[in-house]
Amino acid sequence: MEETIITSNCEEHTYELGVETANRLSPGDTVALFGDLGAGKTEFIKGVCHGLGIEDLVSSPTFTIVNQYGTDDDSRPTVYHIDLYRIESERELDEIGFDEIISDASAIKLIEWSEHCQDRLPAEYLKVRLTQLEEENSRQIEIVRTGARPVANTLS
Ligand SMILES: Nc1ncnc2c1ncn2[C@@H]1O[C@H](COP(=O)(O)OP(=O)(O)OP(=O)(O)O)[C@@H](O)[C@H]1O
Ligand SMILES: [Mg+2]
Repeated sequence: MEETIITSNCEEHTYELGVETANRLSPGDTVALFGDLGAGKTEFIKGVCHGLGIEDLVSSPTFTIVNQYGTDDDSRPTVYHIDLYRIESERELDEIGFDEIISDASAIKLIEWSEHCQDRLPAEYLKVRLTQLEEENSRQIEIVRTGARPVANTLS
């Protein structure tokens, strides 16, 4: 289990880490983000989406819970951006079709507030934990791939 731990000192750095992370993703992958309000999960996801060729502006899908993004290029994977902040029960996960989305082998799934779906994450996923550090604009970002597949450890 290889792990990358980086200190981000501004939102642009977090975004850039998202862009770089996109290069390590394949169709079917899940990225599970953990971290408090304002930790930078959406900022990181914006970078991932940019890296995946998605042009639409990404905002936290607070009211929709699940946003689906595509590109004009059919060879690129569909991306699901899921924000589980408001999800409080297994039943609510069922209602948004969580298991169906997660088992979509051709899509990339990006999950904010993965604390709320811990028991239902796939066997293998990329875990991204963001932690606010003492300095206002600093975040520790920990990236680790859980499960079998070896990770390309190329983030700088
Ligand atoms: N190093 C940093 N990385 C990311 N965001 C930062 C950083 N420093 C400051 N910020 C600020 O922190 C905020 C992060 O907001 P963001 O919406 O990405 O958080 P979030 O984790 O998605 O929160 P929520 O749980 O509310 O969805 C932004 O206002 C951003 O400008
Ligand atoms: Mg967010």
